[in-house]
Amino acid sequence: MFTISKIDLDEIKAAKDVLSLTWKNTYGKYFSAKAIKKITSRWHAEKLLLKQAKDSDVYFAAAKDKKDVIVGIITVRKVDADTLFMHRIYVNPKFQGMGVGSQLLDSSLKYFSEARKLKLECEKKNNKACAFYLKKGFKIIGEKDDEVEGVRLKTVVFEKELR
Ligand SMILES: CC(C)(COP(=O)(O)OP(=O)(O)OC[C@H]1O[C@@H](n2cnc3c(N)ncnc32)[C@H](O)[C@@H]1OP(=O)(O)O)[C@@H](O)C(=O)NCCC(=O)NCCS
Repeated sequence: MFTISKIDLDEIKAAKDVLSLTWKNTYGKYFSAKAIKKITSRWHAEKLLLKQAKDSDVYFAAAKDKKDVIVGIITVRKVDADTLFMHRIYVNPKFQGMGVGSQLLDSSLKYFSEARKLKLECEKKNNKACAFYLKKGFKIIGEKDDEVEGVRLKTVVFEKELR
């Protein structure tokens, strides 16, 4: 039903739109509109997304529906021979709960089939994503206090053993 492929450079704008929409939907109830704008303008800057899409150590892929519309995004970086770090996984709210997140995650593990562990950090209040990661076999290995653009974030560090 959904196809996964590495993102083309001319799809960055569409990917950014999915990220903005999903970010607002996910964090709108926790952070002010100003804070969301500040964080997303840094994390989802077109220049940064383009750089990641061109980076050979990064798997930046999109899930598309049958009309070829992007419904989800994943970005995973190879940190070293054993370790992967997931920068983001975002599925358009209209398509959540339909297996898109699972397909994106599986595709990244297939792409980096030699890796031994996958780490990520998730906002503590984001119960939906935390439930998804636990369901997918991730374990909580720590917590962090971060500040991004003057906005305080409490994050949970997850890790999944691979192979
Ligand atoms: C988290 C997210 C990526 C999951 O993607 P998804 O396509 O909705 O997830 P899937 O349909 O593949 O679900 C996989 C499993 O996770 C579990 N899961 C997904 N959403 C859940 C929820 N809201 N509550 C509890 N469990 C959930 C399901 O039980 C499902 O298991 P099942 O196959 O046995 O039913 C997606 O909901 C999302 O984009 N959320 C907003 C953005 C976000 O928070 N990203 C992560 C930032 S760290």
